[in-house]
Amino acid sequence: MDKLTMKNVYVTRCIPQVGIDLLSQHFHVRSNQQPRKLTRQELLDGIKGVDGVLTSGTDKIDAELMDLNPGIRCFSNYAVGFDNMDVAAATQRRVLCTNTPDVLNDSTAEMAWALLMAVARRVVESDRIMRTRQWTGWEPQEFLGGDITGKTLGIIGAGRIGTSIAMKSRGFDMQILYSGRRNNSELDAKLNARFVDMDTLLQSSDFVSLSVALNAQTYHLIGARELALMKPTAYLINTARGPVVDEAALVQALKSKQIAGAGLDVYEFEPDMVEGLELLENTVLTTHIGSATYATRNAMAVKAATNLIAALKGEMPPDCLNP
Ligand code: DGY
Repeated sequence: MDKLTMKNVYVTRCIPQVGIDLLSQHFHVRSNQQPRKLTRQELLDGIKGVDGVLTSGTDKIDAELMDLNPGIRCFSNYAVGFDNMDVAAATQRRVLCTNTPDVLNDSTAEMAWALLMAVARRVVESDRIMRTRQWTGWEPQEFLGGDITGKTLGIIGAGRIGTSIAMKSRGFDMQILYSGRRNNSELDAKLNARFVDMDTLLQSSDFVSLSVALNAQTYHLIGARELALMKPTAYLINTARGPVVDEAALVQALKSKQIAGAGLDVYEFEPDMVEGLELLENTVLTTHIGSATYATRNAMAVKAATNLIAALKGEMPPDCLNP
C-alpha cells in the first residue's frame, strides 16, 4: 500500500519487537517507548488521529476515550483479560475489541503451579533464611509445609487456563474439583474431575486456584465468608485478577491462620497491595508475571498485531470480543 494512504496505529506499551515488525508491514506505527504504563493524559494524546490501538490490560479503554477519538476502529488488547475495556460501549459505537486467548494458557498455568509449590513447601521463606545467612543447620521441624501429592485441587473457573492448571496435576495424583458456569467434559474424561458448587469446592479442597475472568459477577467472589469455608490447612492461589479476592479479608484470614497460605500473582489495587500482606510469611507474592515467558509474550504480540491488522483491513479479527 502507498505510504501516504497507510493507516496509523498506536501501541501503548513496549511489546516484543515481533509485534511491532508485523504491524509495520501494514501501518504507520507509533508506540510508547517508556517502560511504564501511560498516564491517562499521555494515553489520550498518544491515540489522537490513529485508526487502531494496541492496548494492554493497564490501559482503561472506556466510552470517554472512544468518544474523544471516534476515528479508532479497533482496540486490540495485549492480554487475555479484558476487564480494562468497556466492550459494550465499543459495540454500541461499532468499534472492535480483541484479546489474546490460548497462547498464554500453559505459562499462566505453570505460574499457578510455581506459586502452589512455593507456598506449600515454603520455598521463599527458606530461601530468605539461607540468603541472609541465618540458617543454623538442619532441624527436624524446620519449614514444615503441606503435602501436594494425592491432595485435592479445586479449580474455580475451569476455562482454558483453569483446564491447563488441572491437567498439570497429573504427576501429583490429585483429585480435581471444579466449579464454574458449566461442566468441562475434558476434565471429566481425562482426570475424572468432579463439577461441584463453589461452597463444596472451598470446603473440600487442599488447594483452591482461581482462574475466572474479572467482571461484575466475579468481583470479590472470594471474601470473608468463602475464606471461612476453606480448610485451615488449605492454600489459595490467584493468577486471575486481584479484585476477584477481597484482599483485606484475605489478609485477615492469613493473619489468623484461618487458611494455611496464599500464592498471589495479582492484587486488588495493582501495583499496590493491601497493607499487611507484605508482612505475612505464609504468602508467596509475585508481580503479575503469569504470562511472562519469552515465547508467550512474543506469541501475544503476534496475536494482538494480527487482530489489529484484520480489523483495520475490514475483516473479522480472530479474537473478536464484541458479541
Ligand atoms: C492477561 O493476559 O490477561 C494477563 O493477565 C496479562 O495482562
